[in-house]
Amino acid sequence: MITIAIITVSDRSSRGERTDLSGPEIRKWAEGKNYKIVSEMIVPDEIDDIKNEIIRVSDKGYNVVFTTGGTGFAPRDVTPEATKAVIDREAPGFAEAMRAKSLEITPNAMLSRAASGIRKRTLIINLPGSPKAVKENLMFIEKAIPHAVDLVKGEVTDCGKPSNN
Ligand code: MTE
Repeated sequence: MITIAIITVSDRSSRGERTDLSGPEIRKWAEGKNYKIVSEMIVPDEIDDIKNEIIRVSDKGYNVVFTTGGTGFAPRDVTPEATKAVIDREAPGFAEAMRAKSLEITPNAMLSRAASGIRKRTLIINLPGSPKAVKENLMFIEKAIPHAVDLVKGEVTDCGKPSNN
């Protein structure tokens, strides 16, 4: 069973001024895959709050952490910086695939600075902030997640097995 932690990064949602629709969008996707949601948090666009929450959930050994929001160009968009500060290894393929595939939908995909990486045994993936962007981007990366999780856990001995492709 793949365990999923969700971190919504939004000043307004963290203050209760705006309903978070993006975290629930990730939840809906994960439930459809029978993945287990183990944590859902909303934090403001503060680099230390984002870092601390990523550290907290990856120290628990959860398989995948999705952040949503704060990947753009606004002065307070710092989710990629927080992510890069706490990962042990980059996993750029996820962010690259999301931007490439999203560009087929909107030129604004160029405005996402999303990062992806690995901390200990946890895969961390930044998603953009809108529910629409969350839904689209999850669709682009979902096929690679089970194999990625197995690799991160150290459980793959043969990448060439047909079940892994
Ligand atoms: N990617 C997809 N697939 N669909 C979208 O609608 N929106 C873009 C981009 N990526 C979008 C997308 C927009 S408008 C922005 S500003 C950036 O993601 C960054 O979003 P964020 O600042 O909410 O993280």
